[in-house]
Amino acid sequence: MSNVMTKFSLRKEDCIAGMRRLPAEYIDLAVTSPPYNLGVRYSTYSDRAARADYLRWCKTWAREIARLLTRDGSLFLNIGAAPANPMLPHEMVLELRDVFVLQNTIHWIKSIALPSGHGSVGGTNTSPAEVSTSIGHFKPISSRRFLNDCHEYIFHFTKTARVELNRLALGVPYQDKSNIARWSHTRGEDLRCRGNTWFIPYKTIRNRDKQRPHPATFPVQLAENCIKLHGVTRVRRMLDPFLGIGNSAVAAKRCEVPEFIGFDIDAAYLREARRRLAPERRKRAGK
Ligand SMILES: C[S@@+](CC[C@H](N)C(=O)[O-])C[C@H]1O[C@@H](n2cnc3c(N)ncnc32)[C@H](O)[C@@H]1O
Repeated sequence: MSNVMTKFSLRKEDCIAGMRRLPAEYIDLAVTSPPYNLGVRYSTYSDRAARADYLRWCKTWAREIARLLTRDGSLFLNIGAAPANPMLPHEMVLELRDVFVLQNTIHWIKSIALPSGHGSVGGTNTSPAEVSTSIGHFKPISSRRFLNDCHEYIFHFTKTARVELNRLALGVPYQDKSNIARWSHTRGEDLRCRGNTWFIPYKTIRNRDKQRPHPATFPVQLAENCIKLHGVTRVRRMLDPFLGIGNSAVAAKRCEVPEFIGFDIDAAYLREARRRLAPERRKRAGK
């Protein structure tokens, strides 16, 4: 561990205006989750724009992110859907296709039901009745038509689709160890690419106002995965234009990213983000 202390710049400002004041190719990595335009009750932002206006706005901030990213930079964009709006994530990708290239599509799994014996090799032909474990949290949907929504997307956008990733930074051991010798690309190492399904459950909380005072957050682990996949040592400056309560900033601190810039228009969310980073800020001030 090198003990790098992250330099944070968290700004209460419209992200488009804020990004416009930064120089081109200033950022190596952006990890963010914009408002989804699904009527979420934020304390300042109104999440109910006309669909076409919303998508136009998305393209405007995406263009700014593209201008700020280095040629080998990555944008990891988290977005979910709703039964009333199942196409939203896909419309977003289409809207941004002349700004970025879609290099990877990752599924953030919030909850999963596993069959009994899931730890054993093979043998997944189990009936639904044999489900032994259900892990994770999601917001249940009361409906006779729609399934509970237990996943969101993380779109990995780049400028060229040729950005090399540190796949084994999130690697998992082979279940069948004979694969280590079978595949020459393993170079004898018991680690394979995790793939594009990331099981990241929300932490169990008892008091939302105190423990997660924001209606639409992602877990710190999600942003941490993005940093590691892009390559920790390749991230000198990281950006989150829609900071919320600062989960991406906490991830940057954990990964010792040297510099982090975040924007949010809501003073209360920014206060909470700063509170969570406070020990780091006190250390920097030598207190
Ligand atoms: C989905 S939330 C992000 C949550 C964040 N990922 C977290 O884990 O806390 C979107 C955030 O964008 C902020 N926001 C909305 N419009 C904005 C704008 N024009 N500029 C900056 N932030 C904005 C909202 O206040 C909200 O906190």
